Amino acid sequence: MSERRPRIVIRDLAKTFREGGREVAAVQDVSVTIREQEFVAIVGPSGCGKSTILNMIGGLVAPSAGTVEIDGVRVAGRVPGNVGYVFQKDTVFPWRTVARNIAIGLEYRGVARTEQARRVRDAIALAGLEGFEEAFPATLSGGMRQRVALMRTLVVEPEILLMDEPFGALDTHTKLDLHAELLALWEARHQTVVFVTHDLSEAITLADRIVVMTRRPGRVKLVHDVALPRPRDVIKLRETDDYAHEYGRIWHVLGEEFAGRA
Ligand SMILES: Nc1ncnc2c1ncn2[C@@H]1O[C@H](COP(=O)(O)OP(=O)(O)O)[C@@H](O)[C@H]1O
Ligand SMILES: [Mg+2]
Repeated sequence: MSERRPRIVIRDLAKTFREGGREVAAVQDVSVTIREQEFVAIVGPSGCGKSTILNMIGGLVAPSAGTVEIDGVRVAGRVPGNVGYVFQKDTVFPWRTVARNIAIGLEYRGVARTEQARRVRDAIALAGLEGFEEAFPATLSGGMRQRVALMRTLVVEPEILLMDEPFGALDTHTKLDLHAELLALWEARHQTVVFVTHDLSEAITLADRIVVMTRRPGRVKLVHDVALPRPRDVIKLRETDDYAHEYGRIWHVLGEEFAGRA
């Protein structure tokens, strides 16, 4: 992995929010390098600054200190062109059909109609949404809506994927289905992924490397390489000793952040 080129370089990143005379130190001293094709998960307790870090990587929030570079270019105030975002709250547009939701990024980019139709068709097949092309989001399950949101991001073929608890609102079964689908999609394209979650099982299932954060203000507590072979079977994986070992090792570190609140 170490010979791969760095894509996202985070140096001494910090964010303090100032609101109505109150200061909240959300993130401090975060330095991480994420390499080409790497799948990195950021885990930590709620409120430790995970979303803030992701938003600084994506150019949605300006750092108070430190820098983020993507492919050697400092991120400043706008989402870089080769970056795709998926959020926890499904952000599909209720007034657009499934197909028209997935097409939206292609429309923005001015992709020709026939090419749009082809790519949307492929995306719908990949996500198992055939038959729902003309359905409106209100008629879909949460899992299907999140599939639409995922495909809408993937259809423009971003090289870097920023995912903020994208499956956080789903039940366990649906979540596992989407883990399997995401891994299959990632095995095909090997995007560089930064995946934020508070769910350690999810992080171990998906990631090559896990960045464990402290409680707020979030600092990097541990960077852990996940020593599990790929491709991974999201169900069988959990029955293996190796999985249990990974879980135990990180849980010990993460547990300290949940327990013993000062
Ligand atoms: N726009 C904002 N204005 C003020 N405080 C914020 C803002 N965004 C986040 N925060 C605060 O920063 C801290 C970290 O938030 P966040 O990054 O959302 O944490 P996480 O994603 O790990 O749950 C929290 O205390 C949160 O209340
Ligand atoms: Mg968050």
